[in-house]
Amino acid sequence: MAKDWWKESAADIPILKTEIPGPESKRMHGNTTKYFHGLSGQVKLFPVCFSEGHGITLTDVDGNKYLDFSSGIYVTSLGHCHPKVSEAVSHWANRLMNAHDFTTPVKEKLCEKLADVLPGKLNAMQFYSDGTSAVESAIRAARAITGKHEFISCFRDFHGKSMAAVSCAQMVRGDVFSYGPTRAPGFYMVPRPNPYRPHFTKADGTIDTDGYIDFYREFIQEGTVGNVAAFVLEPIQGWGGSIVPPDDFFPKLKKLCDEKGILLYADEVLAGMGRTGEWLAMNHWDVVPDIVTFGKSFGNGFPVTAMVVSEENASALDKISASSSYGGNPMACAAALASIEVIEEEDILSNVRTVGEFIRKRMEKMKEDHPIVGDVKAKGFLLGMELVKDKNTKEPFAEAGTLVYQKAFRKGLAWIPAGHILRMSPPLIMDEKYAELGLSMIEESIGEVENEFGY
Ligand SMILES: Cc1ncc(COP(=O)(O)O)c(C=O)c1O
Repeated sequence: MAKDWWKESAADIPILKTEIPGPESKRMHGNTTKYFHGLSGQVKLFPVCFSEGHGITLTDVDGNKYLDFSSGIYVTSLGHCHPKVSEAVSHWANRLMNAHDFTTPVKEKLCEKLADVLPGKLNAMQFYSDGTSAVESAIRAARAITGKHEFISCFRDFHGKSMAAVSCAQMVRGDVFSYGPTRAPGFYMVPRPNPYRPHFTKADGTIDTDGYIDFYREFIQEGTVGNVAAFVLEPIQGWGGSIVPPDDFFPKLKKLCDEKGILLYADEVLAGMGRTGEWLAMNHWDVVPDIVTFGKSFGNGFPVTAMVVSEENASALDKISASSSYGGNPMACAAALASIEVIEEEDILSNVRTVGEFIRKRMEKMKEDHPIVGDVKAKGFLLGMELVKDKNTKEPFAEAGTLVYQKAFRKGLAWIPAGHILRMSPPLIMDEKYAELGLSMIEESIGEVENEFGY
């Protein structure tokens, strides 16, 4: 398969044929929302209806063609309908769609391949069909491995919407009503390091990782009953705004966890499988977690997720059955296997590293040139820009975030809003030319919003 399979369909984007959302989008969205409720902010702020995706483009029902800076929601990372992935799924769609948790030829291959690309001895696994289910199984695994029941997670991390996943996260999110009167017993939350908005600082004002680690040590002593099974974190905060921790954070946290007999569980549903330029985001810090979960990019759009623990804990997985209706079905395994092979064959990780660096530098320049761009967040293609009313006070500028999102969408950029932090998740195949195209649409929109607010 030629690496540039997606380029022809990207020629001449954006193609804008109607005002957007166009008349057919408006009609279809109006009809659908008579029945379908609870849409994300992404859709509510820009209700277009998509009918096709190819590579780095999305086409709506009015024929408008957009540059994709969202990959679904960090999902279609190798480009929409990557031919190798689509072919692999359709092969099994025509042969064997489901065989419960029986072994199939394609499951055998996926297990071997995944164990091969993961660091250390992360090679005991189970497959599921959404990120939340993988997270739930990780919580069960941590309990089975340690015989302990408490969990510590971090402010503003996100892990899904089931009871245990929600108990590891914020329970009232924006306009989303509380998931319940309280989190499940034994689940606690602590702040995590955000270099732009640190809780603990050194004398020179920069973030003090040791302050966080010392606080966790004290919290484990004073705030738990001494039965902590796992520390649960996203390696890089996704929904929370693409927040990258300082480089010394994970090595120090792993040391603390080992000292206390606590497992380190990295939820890589969003950050894993190439998005940051490594198979695992944790590889950036040479830390091998005890438990890891994948989703999103794992099947490039086909619902397939995984929960993996290291070999020495493999026997505990027999205590938590992997049986599920859809987990590890042949189509799912084929999508995940093909996606891993594409990452290798197309040298996706090095593309993410080089084009990611180009994007980071371009965003740093925007920070220099624009009074409302307060901070840049970047690891590979996991990207964000924080908008503030004033660079000294760092007051979040959510109104600007919403407007920039809508304006850039109108220019032909399909992307992801998150309040005052602009989030970007371009397909990992993207080259500098199209990265520049998307960033210039964002920069133009930032400039227009600054004018409107009198900057
Ligand atoms: C880090 C993380 N974990 C878990 C989930 C839940 O995954 P899913 O929506 O597939 O259930 C998400 C979803 O955004 C996520 O970002």
